[in-house]
Amino acid sequence: MIIEPRMRGFICLTAHPDGCAQNVKNQIEYVKSKGAINGPKKVLVIGASTGFGLASRITAAYGSGASTIGVFFEKAPSEGKTASPGWYNSAAFEKEAHAAGLYAKSINGDAFSKEIKEKTIATIKADLGQVDLVIYSLASPVRKHPDTEVLHRSTLKPIGGTYTNKTVDFHTGNVSEISIEPANEEDIANTVAVMGGEDWAMWIDALKAENLLAEGATTVAYSYIGPALTEAVYRKGTIGRAKDDLEATAFKISDKLKDIDGKAYVSVNKALVTQASSAIPVIPLYISLLYKVMKAEGIHEGTIEQIQRLYADRLYTGSPVPVDQEGRIRIDDWEMREDVQAKVAELWKAATTETLPAIGDLAGYRSDFLSLFGFEVDQVDYQKEANEVVAIEGLV
Ligand code: NAD
Ligand code: NA
Repeated sequence: MIIEPRMRGFICLTAHPDGCAQNVKNQIEYVKSKGAINGPKKVLVIGASTGFGLASRITAAYGSGASTIGVFFEKAPSEGKTASPGWYNSAAFEKEAHAAGLYAKSINGDAFSKEIKEKTIATIKADLGQVDLVIYSLASPVRKHPDTEVLHRSTLKPIGGTYTNKTVDFHTGNVSEISIEPANEEDIANTVAVMGGEDWAMWIDALKAENLLAEGATTVAYSYIGPALTEAVYRKGTIGRAKDDLEATAFKISDKLKDIDGKAYVSVNKALVTQASSAIPVIPLYISLLYKVMKAEGIHEGTIEQIQRLYADRLYTGSPVPVDQEGRIRIDDWEMREDVQAKVAELWKAATTETLPAIGDLAGYRSDFLSLFGFEVDQVDYQKEANEVVAIEGLV
């Protein structure tokens, strides 16, 4: 079958197995090229199939030779439909890892549910005994609460007033003004329920209750701050409240892990094109300007460069983990550099449909977006029939 991208709004309905596999191989090669990290040995990654979570799994496996269990929620291929990209990514990762002699197993289902936590616990017990690193990298629009069965939906809204700013449709390049109505209390509570720290704490509680966390275990969840430009819709909006809650949860988890000398961190990561971020208004315009500036400065990074740096230069240096005044790890340091932000703010003022192709990296945005689905990946011949991938090797 020849597979082509089929767009609907901000999502792509198709994914290319060979492109996804090539992306995984490229990430593996990058981590190997950076050399060994004296890092984790047994790792659980929750949200392991795409974005920062996939990069976390690859860095653990190929930087430190770690055994990994990946949890994700992805679609297998079905009649007339390709799988979701994270499904192909995971199939490729499992195949590569096994060929390299690395333990890898995957669990596909709702990480918010009791059932998937139990399945994960049983797998750790049977195969690994304990884990020494738990990465929490879920990005989801909904969460069915395991106790109340209420389905919470997250929103991306400002708080306190209507937010009006520029945005771009990155498919057409059209820059327009967008107004987003403020959230009500229910929107805020729902967003915190989905993207806040409660589920992270539930995972850690469940693992600890079964004595599955090794002495000195670390857990890390991912957050974002970003510039003044996007503050009203991101950090001071509904999603920002969820991130505040996630960050507060790190301290609560660290307290609970004191007896095993464990620690919970939040790492603040750079803005990047992922399935999650392309759905947020205003952010794609910011990212396309940011990419332009960071590429010109030679400091652009993708998810794998970010996470390799997180492990090698922050978490596993042999010295105390450097954190900011709020106790957070910062790998958004290059994005937030004053000179970078000053340039982006200048470009922001000048951004229109006419100027953006020259002053922003719209082409880079689009190509990164397509690449998430396995399209426009350099080493792949798209004229050839795509390989059929029908199973994930280590699926539990
Ligand atoms: P992503 O969409 O690429 O990855 C989300 C992962 O969560 C996938 O593996 C998916 O399968 C999994 N998932 C979603 N719902 C699930 C469910 N119910 N059960 C099991 N798995 C589920 O997203 P990402 O951009 O890598 O985001 C990961 C984290 O990083 C989020 O907390 C996000 O806020 C944060 N972050 C993202 C950016 C960015 O610019 N993309 C920047 C900083 C921080
Ligand atoms: Na992820």
